[in-house]
Amino acid sequence: MLRQVFRLTMAPTTTMATTIMRMRRSCHAVPVRRFSSVARGVSITFCDKSGSRKTVVCKPGESLLEIAHANEVDLEGACEGSLACSTCHVILEQSVYDKLEEPSDEENDMLDLAFGLTETSRLGCQVRVTNDMDGMVVRLPSATRNMAVDGYVPKPH
Ligand code: FES
Repeated sequence: MLRQVFRLTMAPTTTMATTIMRMRRSCHAVPVRRFSSVARGVSITFCDKSGSRKTVVCKPGESLLEIAHANEVDLEGACEGSLACSTCHVILEQSVYDKLEEPSDEENDMLDLAFGLTETSRLGCQVRVTNDMDGMVVRLPSATRNMAVDGYVPKPH
């Protein structure tokens, strides 16, 4: 079969090696790369109380609190994710909120203490990012219960 193809495709001035090399190249299709959110990570935009936005790329499975701290977003997280505060309060888009499992009783108890609670409020330490959250906007509330009055700005851990 190869010889037959070779005879049909070989021009009189080309060598057999050149023709075989060309045939091999044409047989091995170059895969088309599609950059899905899985390959490049999940893009999330944090929007602070002043309305300024910061878009970051993260891995699925990380919590919003971990992502915020890794990217110097001012989301406090005083208890470091142990459900003992409400300082990691975030406000999600309705479409994202609806896809999540219901908050646990412990999370709801802490959310009740959150400043500026909304219908789509969650605790950032309890929300793990998934691929279908790509492009979502996370709003930070205007204040948290732990906020100090002396101008203290929390640092990532
Ligand atoms: S960091 Fe305290 S409850 Fe999330």
